[in-house]
Amino acid sequence: MENLVKTSNLRNFWIIFVKIDIDIMVTIIAAVAKNNAIGLNNDLIWHLPADLKRFKKVTSGHHILMGRNTYESIGRPLPNRTTVIITNNKHYEQEGCLIAYSLEQALELAKNDEHIYIIGGAQVYKYAIENDLVDTLDITLVHHQFEADVFFPEIDNSIWEIAQREDFLADDKNKFDYSFISYKKKI
Ligand SMILES: NC(=O)c1ccc[n+]([C@@H]2O[C@H](COP(=O)([O-])OP(=O)(O)OC[C@H]3O[C@@H](n4cnc5c(N)ncnc54)[C@H](OP(=O)(O)O)[C@@H]3O)[C@@H](O)[C@H]2O)c1
Repeated sequence: MENLVKTSNLRNFWIIFVKIDIDIMVTIIAAVAKNNAIGLNNDLIWHLPADLKRFKKVTSGHHILMGRNTYESIGRPLPNRTTVIITNNKHYEQEGCLIAYSLEQALELAKNDEHIYIIGGAQVYKYAIENDLVDTLDITLVHHQFEADVFFPEIDNSIWEIAQREDFLADDKNKFDYSFISYKKKI
């Protein structure tokens, strides 16, 4: 009997331990120009292969959450990732994708992933930040100003601080200087 009690206590310990260990990280990933531009005519504005390569590397194996416009701009589910499309349209379907009717529901659908990425667009970024649904911001800053019709929200320096930054100069493949900047919340 004593052994049984001990075993049961041990099980409880492990259950608690596992619960703590699977904390989920939610990250916004975006490529943002100096004037906060992110898109025009439901498309990306610039072509920066280094950013696309990093996006693929970082998001592979994870859930990527996006608004319907961003999905339709991409036009297909991205390989090696689980695509979750957010829409108000209860009849919306896309083969190979999960559909959610709010960002909260999209996060719920992705909750078995230890790292969830919110990949845009402007409406979804704004909602996620305003409603405090994000832990980190993974921003590619493109050192140029562009004409745009959608913009990333202003990053509030009283809430966010830079955790890591790498700067790169334009080269043969990447026409603009750019920086990879990770923000975390100030404690
Ligand atoms: N530079 C970057 O890193 C980057 C990344 C992603 C996208 N973009 C650009 O951003 C632009 C698209 O952004 P966008 O702001 O127009 O659109 P979006 O955020 O991609 O999608 C907006 C749509 O998503 C649905 N939606 C958003 N929030 C919702 C919520 N809380 N509940 C239910 N449905 C919700 C609605 O779909 P329904 O109308 O179907 O209800 C809404 O019309 C494009 O130009 C794209 O290229 C840029």
